[in-house]
Amino acid sequence: MVNIMKHPLKISALVLALAGVVAAGADAKANWEKYCKGCHGVEGKGDTKLGQKFECRDYSDAKVQATLTDEKMFKSIKDGLTKGGEVQMKPYSDKLTDQEIKDLVAFIRKLKK
Ligand code: HEC
Repeated sequence: MVNIMKHPLKISALVLALAGVVAAGADAKANWEKYCKGCHGVEGKGDTKLGQKFECRDYSDAKVQATLTDEKMFKSIKDGLTKGGEVQMKPYSDKLTDQEIKDLVAFIRKLKK
């Protein structure tokens, strides 16, 4: 049994790790609101003017989420999405790092109701 009171360094490492998790969550939300909510809506329902125009699906719907894989979502956000030669969503590889895109994929998964 490890007595944590004897390991102040371990405690501060733990606090730092937790702070990191919280910060990463805030980043994904901030990026979502900056780049994505115009079409996909704050809650991912696609219920904005642009979202309706571009026929965004409802990502709070478990059935819609079930059609998506993390890999495909990552690729679509990074490289963009086209349908029948028309751009549905621009690539975000110039604005977001791979880590930020991964965090956004995790964020979208949590929009499921
Ligand atoms: C110009 C409007 C628009 C913006 C802005 C936008 N998207 Fe999209 N996105 C779409 C459309 C249209 C689709 C295709 C229909 C759908 O799946 O809802 C789509 C699809 C997706 C998909 C599903 C991809 C797939 O392979 O099926 C994901 C995930 C996604 N968007 C995430 C994002 C993220 C994250 C952002 C912000 C960084 C973003 N979108 C910004 C319009 C947009």
